[in-house]
Amino acid sequence: MTSSEPVCACPELGPDAYARWRASELGAITERLERRLILELAGDVAGRAVLDLGCGDGELALALVKRGALATGIDASPAMIDAARRRAMQQGAEVALQVATAEHLPFPAERFDIVTAITVLCFIDDPAPVLREISRVLRPGGRLVIGELGKWSPWAATRRMRAWFGSALWRRARFRTADDLRDLAAQAGLVVESLRGAIYYPRCAAAARWLSPYDSLWGRFTTLGAGFVALSAAKPGSRRDDPRAGCR
Ligand SMILES: C[S@@+](CC[C@H](N)C(=O)[O-])C[C@H]1O[C@@H](n2cnc3c(N)ncnc32)[C@H](O)[C@@H]1O
Repeated sequence: MTSSEPVCACPELGPDAYARWRASELGAITERLERRLILELAGDVAGRAVLDLGCGDGELALALVKRGALATGIDASPAMIDAARRRAMQQGAEVALQVATAEHLPFPAERFDIVTAITVLCFIDDPAPVLREISRVLRPGGRLVIGELGKWSPWAATRRMRAWFGSALWRRARFRTADDLRDLAAQAGLVVESLRGAIYYPRCAAAARWLSPYDSLWGRFTTLGAGFVALSAAKPGSRRDDPRAGCR
């Protein structure tokens, strides 16, 4: 198998499963909150080269394009990249999409201003090489935004139970705390800017409906109990050719 051939990283999590999740009330509310947090941490993306690593069906990459980013998406799953291409075509959006693994990014050093990696590391046993790759492709002054499944939340508890009852997907998954994410970023030489939580309600549509208006408020105080934990971190240094350097 060559690196451009199919590598299905999470076979149970295909584009159809994602479409069904987003079509549900709980999925729609949850995705909206997670997306809002990630876009907030990414900051101003207009005119920036952004890599969405483990881009899935391209939802975030397309949201970034709408905000003026020059977006690239990679994913280990050819099915996900196909779905992202279809979605980009339907929306007439320009996104460079490629099948590739996070451990071996097919890009030169210092290629991107921003890298996002949303619920990808949870399916990677050893994330350290991935963080090193991210750091390599980030320009000095560039930013990494990670979103991960929180370790201490009702969502993680349910997923662990599903693993005990035989779910291959959740058996593989790793849940991380904000401190775990901070350590990973720091080990890759990145400077942590922000750690935030989201999704404090249990896995229930009614709870999501009632509690989601308060979610971002909670996320500013603690990551404990968050189903989703996010970090932003900067690569030290600043680009000499960046007119906005120093404004971030
Ligand atoms: C839970 S999905 C998240 C998709 C997308 N980031 C989102 O938030 O909607 C995880 C994605 O990571 C991809 N993935 C898992 N391991 C990977 C790896 N080693 N390299 C690249 N992509 C990977 C999977 O194929 C899948 O599309």
